[in-house]
Amino acid sequence: MELQKLAEEKVAFLIIFILLVVSVGLLIEVVPLFGSKSVTEPAPGLKPYNALELAGRDLYIREGCYNCHSQMIRPFRAETERYGHYSVGGESVYDHPFQWGSKRTGPDLARVGGRYSDTWHELHMDDPRSVVPESIMPAFPWLKRNKVDVEKTVRHMKTLKVVGVPYTDEDFAAAKELMTNEDGTPKTELDAMIAYLQSLGHALADATNQAN
Ligand code: HEC
Repeated sequence: MELQKLAEEKVAFLIIFILLVVSVGLLIEVVPLFGSKSVTEPAPGLKPYNALELAGRDLYIREGCYNCHSQMIRPFRAETERYGHYSVGGESVYDHPFQWGSKRTGPDLARVGGRYSDTWHELHMDDPRSVVPESIMPAFPWLKRNKVDVEKTVRHMKTLKVVGVPYTDEDFAAAKELMTNEDGTPKTELDAMIAYLQSLGHALADATNQAN
């Protein structure tokens, strides 16, 4: 009773009391995850993004795609029937920053890789209404005009290596070829964005296929 009186009459005490209660919740719910393999170890089929995919991921962030798209399928039937297996922590361990989100003006993209052809994505990025007449997604026509930057992407890969993404010297060396067309011109931002979108969500399926 005394405690309640104190909390009701003294604001400072109320604040400390709230912080204490919240920290207990944090300790119980979040701290055990730090040591849990299911969220710290990569999913069986997970590979780091190659140079072109990583450049596409940077563009995904630059263009703010996350404002309308989540990349986290919840473990509910309505979600798994539509998008496939729910997302697991091990699929995101190489993502810095992760793109989970919860804002869904458009569909979840966690498993969009392979769902459409590259040509579909080209048309859709350039003018979403050309393939989905009722779409309210904005067009991103500049992606096909801008070129990717190999040096910048390799620097980004090296930075990611510092925080634990297992890139090798071969990955850095392969960047230039991956990001250049056969005629020697650099690939476009659209190529990179499509490579990124097509790479999404394969880790679990690949691992299951290997097991079968
Ligand atoms: C203003 C909100 C908005 C933004 C910003 C946005 N989208 Fe969309 N997106 C949508 C909506 C709505 C749809 C569903 C209609 C359609 O397919 O066009 C969609 C659909 C998609 C689809 C097809 C998904 C599927 O499973 O059918 C892809 C891929 C996609 N968006 C990628 C992107 C990318 C990449 C960006 C950033 C360059 C982006 N979107 C930005 C709203 C948005």
